[in-house]
Amino acid sequence: MSDKTSLPGHSTTGAGAPAPSDRNSLTVGSDGPLVLHDVHFLEQMAHFNREKVPERQPHAKGSGAFGVFETTEDVSRYTKAALFQKGCRTEMLARFSTVAGESGSPDTWRDVRGFSLKFYTTEGNYDLVGNNTPVFFVRDPMKFPHFIRSQKRLPDSGLRDAHMQWDFWTNNPESAHQVTYLMGDRGIPQSWRHMNGFGSHTYMWVNAAGEKFWVKYHFHNQQGEKNLTNEEAARIAGMDADYHRRDLFEAIARGDHPKWVMSVQVMPYAQAKTYRFNPFDLTKVWPHKDYPLIKVGVMTLNRNPANFFAEIEQAAFSPGNTVPGIGLSPDKMLLGRAFAYNDAHRARIGTNFHQLPVNRPKVPVNTYMFDGSMTYEHAGNAATYAPNSQGRAWADGGAAPEESWEVDTSLVREAYKLRKDDDDFGQAGTLVRDVFDDAQRQRLVDTVVGTLKSGVRAPVLERVFDYWKKVDADIGRRIEAQYKA
Ligand code: HEM
Repeated sequence: MSDKTSLPGHSTTGAGAPAPSDRNSLTVGSDGPLVLHDVHFLEQMAHFNREKVPERQPHAKGSGAFGVFETTEDVSRYTKAALFQKGCRTEMLARFSTVAGESGSPDTWRDVRGFSLKFYTTEGNYDLVGNNTPVFFVRDPMKFPHFIRSQKRLPDSGLRDAHMQWDFWTNNPESAHQVTYLMGDRGIPQSWRHMNGFGSHTYMWVNAAGEKFWVKYHFHNQQGEKNLTNEEAARIAGMDADYHRRDLFEAIARGDHPKWVMSVQVMPYAQAKTYRFNPFDLTKVWPHKDYPLIKVGVMTLNRNPANFFAEIEQAAFSPGNTVPGIGLSPDKMLLGRAFAYNDAHRARIGTNFHQLPVNRPKVPVNTYMFDGSMTYEHAGNAATYAPNSQGRAWADGGAAPEESWEVDTSLVREAYKLRKDDDDFGQAGTLVRDVFDDAQRQRLVDTVVGTLKSGVRAPVLERVFDYWKKVDADIGRRIEAQYKA
C-alpha cells in the first residue's frame, strides 16, 4: 500500500486479511466484556500506542515539499559535483521549521527558521541543512545543547523563559550577530515562501582538476521578502498555529510554486589563511564587497507531500551527507554537526532510517551497514565484509581525500584564534547601523524591551543593556531608556 489510489475496496488487517470490523469490538453479548482473542482490536490499539516517533530535538515544528533544483549557470570551474553542472535538474525535498518550539507550537513565534534541503543527485543524496539566517549563535559545538536548552523550557514549570534565553546569550557574546537578526524584522517571516535561506557554514567545493574553494550558499526567494510584526504574529499564533505550514501546502496545491535563486560566495582556498575575518567562524558573514554572489541555479517547490508523517516527519537530513566535489570545512560547528544528525535519526526514527523512501537515494546503494531493526533493503547473500574475494565491490579511495585540508598542530581545547577584524560585536553593529533603517531600529528596540519585560531579572538585565551597548552604543542606550521609562 503506497498511496490511496492503490487501496483495496475493503479494509484489511496489517497482515492483509479482510478486517472483521472497524466499528465494533468483539464482546460477550452486545453489552458484555471484551475478549482477548479480538486480535484485530488488539492490533489497532497496540499500533495506535506506537503511531508517533519522538519529535526532532530541536526543529520539531515544520513542514516541507518536494521540488526540483536546476543549475542554470556554469560553475564547473568551482565544483565537479554533478548536481551543479549547467543544465542538471535534480529532484529535491525541502523542510522548513522553527527551532525551539515543539511539534504543535505556533509557526509565527519569533525564532530562527530551519531551511533543510535534500538533493537526490546522481552521485547520492546531498543534504544542505541551513537556516534563514547566514550566521549562528555560537561557534563551538560543545555549546549547542546548552544553547538549545536555554531556548526551550524551565525544568520546574515547563514554561519558556526570556530570562534563561538572555542569560545564555549575554554569557556567550558571540551570539550578538544572530540575536540582532532574530530581534530584527527578519525574526518572524510572513511565510516560508517569503524568506531567504543560507547554508550558513563555509563549505568546500572541488573542481574536476582537484582545485579547492571555500563557498557559502545563499537562497534568495523570488516571492519577495515579507515579515510579520510582533502584533500580527501574536494574533496569527492565536488563530492558526499552522499558518506557515498551511501557506506552503495551499500555495503548492493551487499551482503557485515558490522559487529561490541559489548563489554562492566563493573564496579561493589559500585566501582563507589570511582573510581579515576567520572565514570558518559561523557567527560571521563574508561581506559581499569582498566576495560577491555568483548565481548557480533555481530551486522550485512544486509537489506537496502525499503523507506528512511518512515524507516529512520521517525525513532525515544530515550535513554529513555530501557528494563528490563538495566537502565540509574546518568550521567546528559543521564538524560537530557532521556526526550529530545521523545519530539523531537512528534514535528518533530507527537504525535503518536511510532505507525509507523519502530518505533513500535514487542511485543504487551498496553499503556494508548490515541488518538492524526493520531492514528492508538488503544485499541477499553477498559478502558482508570487506575486503572480500567474492566479487562484492568495496572502497579504498586512497590516503588523501580530495575534500580535505591540512592540519599540523597539537590537540587543544581553545577558541578560534582572533583575526584582525574578528570580535563578537562588530558585524552585529554593522547590521544595526548599515542594514536596518530608522523604523527597523525602533522595532528592534521595541522587540528587545518586550522580551525583557517578560521576566528578565538581575543580574541578566544589566548584562543585556551592556550587550546591546557593545553592539551599538546608541541602540544600547535606547533599549535601557525605553525599558526604564
Ligand atoms: C553543533 C551544532 C548543532 C547540532 C549538534 C545540531 C543538532 C541537530 C539535531 C540533533 C537536530 C534534529 C535532527 C532530527 O531529529 O531530524 C537538528 C535539526 C536541525 N538543525 Fe541542527 N544542530 C546544530 C547546529 C545547527 C546549525 C548551525 C544549523 C543551521 C545553519 C542547524 C539547522 C538545523 C535544521 C534546519 C534542522 C531541522 C532538520 C530538518 O528539517 O529535519 N543546526 N539539529
